[in-house]
Amino acid sequence: MRVYLDNASTTPMHEEVIHKMTEIMRDIYGNPSSIHQHGRKAKSIIEQSRKTVAKIINASIGEVFFTSSATEAHNMILIKSVEDLGVQRIISSPTEHHCILHTLDHLHGCDTAMLSVDHEGTLDYTQLESLLKDSNKKTLVSIMHGNNEIGTMADVNRIGQLCHQYGARFHCDTVQTMGKYPIDVQQSKIHFLAGSAHKFHGPKGVGFVFISNENMLSPFIHGGAQERNMRAGTENLIGIAGLAVALEIANENMMAWREKVSTLRSEFKDGLDRFFDDIKYNGRQDDMFLHHVLSVSFPPGPKVDLLVMNLDIAGISASSGSACSAGIEEDSHVIQAIGHPPDRKTIRFSFSDMNTMEEIQYTIEKLKEMTKVKV
Ligand SMILES: Cc1ncc(COP(=O)(O)O)c(C=O)c1O
Repeated sequence: MRVYLDNASTTPMHEEVIHKMTEIMRDIYGNPSSIHQHGRKAKSIIEQSRKTVAKIINASIGEVFFTSSATEAHNMILIKSVEDLGVQRIISSPTEHHCILHTLDHLHGCDTAMLSVDHEGTLDYTQLESLLKDSNKKTLVSIMHGNNEIGTMADVNRIGQLCHQYGARFHCDTVQTMGKYPIDVQQSKIHFLAGSAHKFHGPKGVGFVFISNENMLSPFIHGGAQERNMRAGTENLIGIAGLAVALEIANENMMAWREKVSTLRSEFKDGLDRFFDDIKYNGRQDDMFLHHVLSVSFPPGPKVDLLVMNLDIAGISASSGSACSAGIEEDSHVIQAIGHPPDRKTIRFSFSDMNTMEEIQYTIEKLKEMTKVKV
C-alpha cells in the first residue's frame, strides 16, 4: 500500500481537471494574444477562468491575474506595494511562509515589524492594533489565513477590520485555505491575496493574484501585454484552465470534503492518542485550525529520529517539521517560532478528500510497529 499524507505540500490532480487540461492541450493551441480564431478561442478560456476565480472570491474580473505560482504573486504584492503605493512599513509574523519572509528580507526602503505568536501560533491581535494605532507610516499587514506547517488559522475578518479602522492595507496568504474555506475579499476587507492551483487538486506551476482596484500595482514581469498588461509572457493556458476547473470543483464540494477530511483527521488523532504515550500536537486544536493538517510532536527517542524515513519505507509519505541548515537538521522556522522543544520530533500529516479510512488505519498500524510503545 502507498499512502499519501502530504497534501499541504501538494495534492494529486482531480480526474476532471486532467480531462479538461488534456482536451485543451490537444485542441486549443492558438496563442491567446493572436487575433485570429485560434487565438481568440485560447483567450476566451483564460477570460472564462478569470471570471470563475473572481466570482469565487467575490472580486471583479479586473482584479484577478494569473501567475506562475503563489510565490510569484506574493513577491509581486510585497515588492510592488512598496514601489508603487509607497508602503513604508510591513507588519507580518514569524510563522509566514518563506516566500513572504525571504521577500521581506530583500525589501529596501521599508520597515518590517513582526508580531508575536504564542505556543499555538496564534497572533497577538492586541499588538497588531497598537502597532497600527501608534504610527502614521503607510502600512501593509501581511498575514496568512492558515499555516501550512501547524494548521493554525488567523481571524481574517478581525485583521481586515483592524486594517480598515487604521487605514492599512491587508495582504493575506490564502494558499492553504483557497477552495477549502469560503474566501470573500469584500467581507474580509482583503486588498491582496494569492492562490496556488496545486494545493486544491490543480496543476503545479500556476497561481493567481488578487489586487483590489483601489490598490492596483504595476507589472512585476515586463514584456508583452498579456494578462491585461499586468504580467508579460505567453500565458500558461492549460494550467490556467486547470486551475479554474480545480477551484470550481473544490468550491462546489467544500463542505462535503471538509467533513470527510475532518473525520479522517479525527480518526488519525484518536489512533495516535490511543496507542502512543506522550504525543502532543502543534498548533491550535480548537475551532481555528486547518482540517487537513495535523502536526504531531513525538517524544524524543532513537526510533522517532528516523520516523519520516521509516514511514516512507513503509509506504507512507508525510513531511517532517524540520529543515536542513548547513548540514544540520533542525526544527523549521515555524516550529521554532512556537517554542517547540528541540528534543521532540515533529511530523506533519496532511490529508485530502482522496484519502481513505483504510489508509489512516494502515498508517497507525505502521507507526505502532515502528515505535512499539504502549500497545
Ligand atoms: C502557505 C503557503 N504560502 C505560499 C506557498 C507557495 O506556493 P507556490 O507553491 O504556488 O509557490 C505555499 C506552498 O507550499 C504555502 O503553503
